[in-house]
Amino acid sequence: MSPKDRAPKKPDRDSPDSPIVHEYDGIIELDNQLPRWWVYTLLGAIIFAAGYWLYFHSAAQGDLASREYARWHAAEVAAEAERLKAAGEVTPELLLTLRKNPGTVEQGAGIFAENCVTCHGDGGKGMVGPNLTDDAWIHGSDPMALYKAVREGFPEKSMQPWGKALGEARTRAVVAYVISIKGTNVAGGKAPQGDKK
Ligand code: HEC
Repeated sequence: MSPKDRAPKKPDRDSPDSPIVHEYDGIIELDNQLPRWWVYTLLGAIIFAAGYWLYFHSAAQGDLASREYARWHAAEVAAEAERLKAAGEVTPELLLTLRKNPGTVEQGAGIFAENCVTCHGDGGKGMVGPNLTDDAWIHGSDPMALYKAVREGFPEKSMQPWGKALGEARTRAVVAYVISIKGTNVAGGKAPQGDKK
């Protein structure tokens, strides 16, 4: 078949070899050849799909997104465990050092904005949860008391234990941020609760 024969024919109602196969209500269906590029793309897609199926499903050689994610996640968890081991056990000194690191405090501010402001208000000025910027504390405000408060929460008072949800490094970062806002007495804050320092 010459390329000329393949060129799409125009509908011509008067020509005997018109490619019209169907006409309804003035709408004409033609019997033209499909463009070659279209046919090859379709065949290519079918061959690719077969290969994809064999590789990822039948032979299970390749990692599907979920398996790839699980592998990546496990590597991240291991890397975080390494980082924490290098950083050492939580001590008041470690938390105070983190509080002096502007990058960590900024990271903690982001975590606080995402997870804590709903209850503790902008900048920690208090809402449902107590004001974290005044001098009154229900559970104490030394670094380890704050760490314990965030990590273990107060489930009976509707504050969940954040340690698991945030992971260790992010828990420490948000504690560093809370230490940094302690005593800033944000204007319009919630009335003091508790009396511990
Ligand atoms: C669903 C609401 C809620 C969320 C979200 C929440 N908290 Fe709380 N938080 C509370 C309540 C309520 C208390 C008071 C517990 C009590 O009365 O014993 C509290 C207490 C605290 C305390 C101890 C305050 C004190 O006076 O001793 C700290 C510190 C604290 N939250 C930090 C955080 C941080 C950091 C986050 C985010 C990671 C957070 N909270 C998220 C409700 C919440």
